[in-house]
Amino acid sequence: MKFKVPRGTQDILPSETSKWQKVERIIQEVCDVYRYKEIRTPMFEQTELFQRTVGDTTDIVQKEMYTFTDKGNRSMTLRPEGTAAVVRSFVEHKMFGYPEQPIKLFYIGPMFRYERQQAGRYRQFVQFGVEAIGSNDPAIDAEVIALAMDVYRRAGLKQLKLVINSLGDTECRNAHKEALIAHFNPQIDEFCSDCKARLEKNPLRILDCKVDSEHPLIASAPSLADYLNEASTAYFKAVTSYLDDAGIAYEVDANLVRGLDYYNHTAFEIMSTADGFGAITTLCGGGRYNGLAEEIGGPSAPGIGFAMSIERLLLAMEAEGKAFEEDPGLDVYVVTLGEDAKRVGVKLLGDLRTAGIRADMDYTDRKMKGQMKSADRLQARTVVVLGEDEVAENVAMLRNMSDRSQEKVPMADLIERIQEQVK
Ligand code: HAM
Repeated sequence: MKFKVPRGTQDILPSETSKWQKVERIIQEVCDVYRYKEIRTPMFEQTELFQRTVGDTTDIVQKEMYTFTDKGNRSMTLRPEGTAAVVRSFVEHKMFGYPEQPIKLFYIGPMFRYERQQAGRYRQFVQFGVEAIGSNDPAIDAEVIALAMDVYRRAGLKQLKLVINSLGDTECRNAHKEALIAHFNPQIDEFCSDCKARLEKNPLRILDCKVDSEHPLIASAPSLADYLNEASTAYFKAVTSYLDDAGIAYEVDANLVRGLDYYNHTAFEIMSTADGFGAITTLCGGGRYNGLAEEIGGPSAPGIGFAMSIERLLLAMEAEGKAFEEDPGLDVYVVTLGEDAKRVGVKLLGDLRTAGIRADMDYTDRKMKGQMKSADRLQARTVVVLGEDEVAENVAMLRNMSDRSQEKVPMADLIERIQEQVK
C-alpha cells in the first residue's frame, strides 16, 4: 500500500521552508511595528461557533467544514478561518476589560476547508490574519488595510489591487435584503437549490454563488450602495479619506460582498494583478464585524480584521518573479581522516556550535574526497581538515573555500580564526 499526502494538502519540504520562515518573519516585524500581538487558539472549536458567526447559509459552513463528533459526543470542527475563534477568545478572556483598547491581535496557522483543489486553493492552508477589536474608529479600518499592504510590500509585491466596499449597517442591509428578495423571487426557479434555500434567509449569498454567477439577474441585482444610509456613507467616506491620506490606492466595487456573514460596513480584498497568477487572484480578504462579539454572548465590541494565506502570497511572489535572497551556506565543514581525528573533530564541532558558528561534518564514513564534495554542496565557507599528523601536532588545516588558500592553525586559535573568516 502506498500512502500519499491527502488531496488538497501539501508537504512543505526543507527546500521551501526557508521562504515560509522569511514570510513569517516579515509578518512578525510588521505586526510588531503596528503593535499587534500574537494569539494562538486551538485548531478545532465547537461546530456551533462557526455556524453562528461565519453563518449557516454560507458555502463554508454548508459544504466546506471538517466536522466530527468527538468521543464525548460533541460536534467539533477544524477551524475554517480564524476570526470566530479570536473573537470567542476575546469574549471568554474578557479582553474587553483590559485597560488598553482596542485589542490588536494577529495569528498565523493552518485552516481547513473542504474545497475543490486548484492552484492557490487547498484544503489545508495557512492564514495570517489580524483582528482589531474594541474600536469603531474608521482610522483603524485604514490601519488594518495598511498593515496588509505593508506585508505585501515587504515581500516585494507591486502588482496589487485593493478593492473596497461598504456593506452598511443592519438598517441598510435589511432594506437591501428586501430589495434582493423582490428581485430574485419571480425567477428563483432558474437558480440552483442552494440559492433557492438562501432566498429568504440570506439573499446576499446568491450574489457570490459559484454555480449561478453568470445568470443575468446577478448583474442586474440591486446594489447595496443604493441602500446605504447617511451614517454608513459617512463612515465609508472617512475610511477612504484615511486611505487617501496614507497614499493607498483603491477601487470601490459595489459588488464586493465577501463570503462570510459577519461583515458590515467596510469590506475589502487585495488581488494580484500579475500576469499568469492563475484563476484565483484574491490574496487577502477582510472587513468590519460590529456585532460579532454580541452574537456569541459577549458585550458590544466592534472589530475589523483580515486574513491572507501564505500559500497565495508565495504564489504572487513567484508570478511577479520576486525571490528571497538565497540562504548562506555553512560556516565550517569539518573533514576528518581516521579514528583519532574523528574524536577531535566531533569535539571541535561541539565547540564551534557553542560559539554560534554554523558547522557540520560527515556521518556516513566517507573518504576525504567525498567529505570535500559535501563541503562544496553545502557551500561551506571554510573547511577544517584533521588528519593523523594534525592531531599529533595539535593543529588543524583551515581552508578558505572562496580563494582555496589554506593555513595550519593551532587548535587553541582555531575558533577565533574561523570567526574572523566567516564574519
Ligand atoms: P476569507 O476571504 O474566507 O476570509 O479568507 C481570507 C483569505 O484566506 C483569502 O483571501 C485567501 O488568501 C485565503 N484562503 C481562503 N481559502 C483558501 C484556500 N482554500 N486555500 C488557500 N487560501 C485560502 C476569512 O477567512 C476571514 N476570517 C478574514 C477576516 C479576518 N475578516 C475579518 N477578520
